[in-house]
Amino acid sequence: MPLQHHLNLCSQGTSIKMLFSGYLIVVAIGYLMAVGQILFTHGMADGEFGLSIDDIVYSYYGKRSGSVLESKLNGSMKVMAPDAERLKIIQWVKKGADKEVYESEIKPIINERCVMCHSPASGMTVPDWTNDKEIFKRAEVDTGATFSSLTRVSHIHLFGIAFIFMFVGLIFSLAAGVPKPLKAFVIIMPYLFLIIDIASWWLTKLNPMFAWLTIIGGGMMALSFAFMWIVSMYEMWIMPRIHPDDRDALLDE
Ligand code: HEC
Repeated sequence: MPLQHHLNLCSQGTSIKMLFSGYLIVVAIGYLMAVGQILFTHGMADGEFGLSIDDIVYSYYGKRSGSVLESKLNGSMKVMAPDAERLKIIQWVKKGADKEVYESEIKPIINERCVMCHSPASGMTVPDWTNDKEIFKRAEVDTGATFSSLTRVSHIHLFGIAFIFMFVGLIFSLAAGVPKPLKAFVIIMPYLFLIIDIASWWLTKLNPMFAWLTIIGGGMMALSFAFMWIVSMYEMWIMPRIHPDDRDALLDE
């Protein structure tokens, strides 16, 4: 006789549990990679490892006292050239990015140190430094992320992250042991804070005082992810060994 089947994680068959767990594990690894990516790009915006409010202000509002070229050379591009050459480029930027000095002194450094990545030939999606115009554009004052890059990154995040939390939330909705109000809140949380997170990029672009909203948005999203992940895994693999569960997670409400 088949076991009685209830609508909760603990009573699912092994195949479904495998499917859910495989998905949760891969998405968790993806999440860690995303955090790594944030640390390596935004985290390095102020030249120091680790994410701070300054990083977020520099990334979105910009370093209005300097240029992209300068802030990158003090940030994630710091390791790309020896200090003497790096400072030479920075000095050149600070003195107004003169065209003649560029040809005689700066271009050779760029060609030697930077073009291996910054050219179409490298296959990397980074600006092309064999086109002088691209360099000059970034020698101007840094006003942070452009509106066109914000729309691009925003729509990718909204679609992509909503999709991930659809499935994480569906799996978690079958957890029987979480009080109803808490459960409903944890399920809606990532969507709420995703909107706050993305809105905060745009607001920070306009005013640096909103940078803390980015930290709150991202942090709360990660917190809800971790909570749903741990509870789902626990109810699938640990709880059934302790006791059977005859509650219906969706119907008992
Ligand atoms: C090993 C490959 C590599 C080398 C070498 C390299 N870069 Fe980059 N660069 C990248 C990558 C990847 C990015 C995008 C990620 C980031 O912004 O940190 C980038 C981004 C930049 C940006 C930001 C462009 C923008 O508009 O978003 C600037 C400016 C920059 N690099 C300058 C330089 C300079 C100047 C050098 C030479 C001293 C250099 N890079 C050498 C890989 C490289």
